[in-house]
Amino acid sequence: MIILGIETSCDETAAAVVVDGIQILSSVVSSQIEVHHPYGGVVPELASRKHMEAIVPVVTEALAVSGMDSKQLDAIAVTQGPGLVGALLVGFCFAKSFAFALDIPWIGVNHLEGHINSLFLEENPPPFPFVALLASGGHTSIYHVTSHTTFELVGQTRDDAAGEAFDKVAKMLGLGYPGGEVIDRLATQGDSENIVFPRPFLDKSTFDFSFSGLKTAVRRYIQKNMDTYQQQIPDIAAGFQEAVVDVLSFKVVHAAMVKGCEHIALVGGVAANNRLRERVRQDADLKGLTVHIPCIDLCGDNAAMIAAIGYHYLIAGTVSGFCDDVYSRARVR
Ligand code: KG4
Ligand code: ZN
Repeated sequence: MIILGIETSCDETAAAVVVDGIQILSSVVSSQIEVHHPYGGVVPELASRKHMEAIVPVVTEALAVSGMDSKQLDAIAVTQGPGLVGALLVGFCFAKSFAFALDIPWIGVNHLEGHINSLFLEENPPPFPFVALLASGGHTSIYHVTSHTTFELVGQTRDDAAGEAFDKVAKMLGLGYPGGEVIDRLATQGDSENIVFPRPFLDKSTFDFSFSGLKTAVRRYIQKNMDTYQQQIPDIAAGFQEAVVDVLSFKVVHAAMVKGCEHIALVGGVAANNRLRERVRQDADLKGLTVHIPCIDLCGDNAAMIAAIGYHYLIAGTVSGFCDDVYSRARVR
């Protein structure tokens, strides 16, 4: 089944052509980072306008790279939520109209389920059941995954998402938006033991997370050291990152042990973090667990993962209707 995937939930306009939910023929991502960078975060109205400009060229390019004609598509899968409503509407309305014009089925899917299904676009996907840590700009959750479309929520953040904490700390340090990648890079030049920040909820009593206190601890450190912190930015980045990584790695490995799973997966934008990838592999190794992490391009938002999850709904006979609408907030089922 040849599926066109479309993703416009936040600040990436993406389209991909994927065969049977596993084989990527093309995956085009047009980022709006430059547009939002001066504001230190995504400006929803600007995001919608940029999606409007980009959607047709991005879909056209995805089809061209795949070598497929639109008439060869079997179905369309599009992100229905969660995300910015105005941004979602661009991809969603485009997908509806394109499916209507081509007279093929279409399905609106959950972005978070898409991130988890990004694992199946790689060579060695995890066998079911497995435990997945989904860490992105908007979400930080642990799921017990028993099929492509069945997820039990094990724990989640009670305030900020991990990626949001990276972005806010980067903003405090004057490093711009988005912050994860730059903190990841600067941390390699610092020493995480020079400035030690608190590890929120680092105990076995809960699988939930909390990152807002850690963010405040960094802010306080900057305020107390106004004259010197500029010279300490690599150490602050390393200390902050180590605190986040400590908590994420401990919780996901512990969740796998409690759930009796031998396989762990990391997905979402924060799964691109080099220290997190290294640390979870080390911690899992000590417990005899296997770790699965998509390549960097598939960690961030993309449309191949949307086509991948769409495939599993479509083969089960689930399709969307023209009265369906987007949603801004939702958990995976
Ligand atoms: O999954 P994603 O692309 O979009 C959402 O669904 O939110 O995740 C974006 C988030 C941003 O907060 C970004 O700062 C973070 O992922 N991120 C990283 C890294 N690359 C992206 N965080 C830590 N280290 C990275 N290397
Ligand atoms: Zn995402």
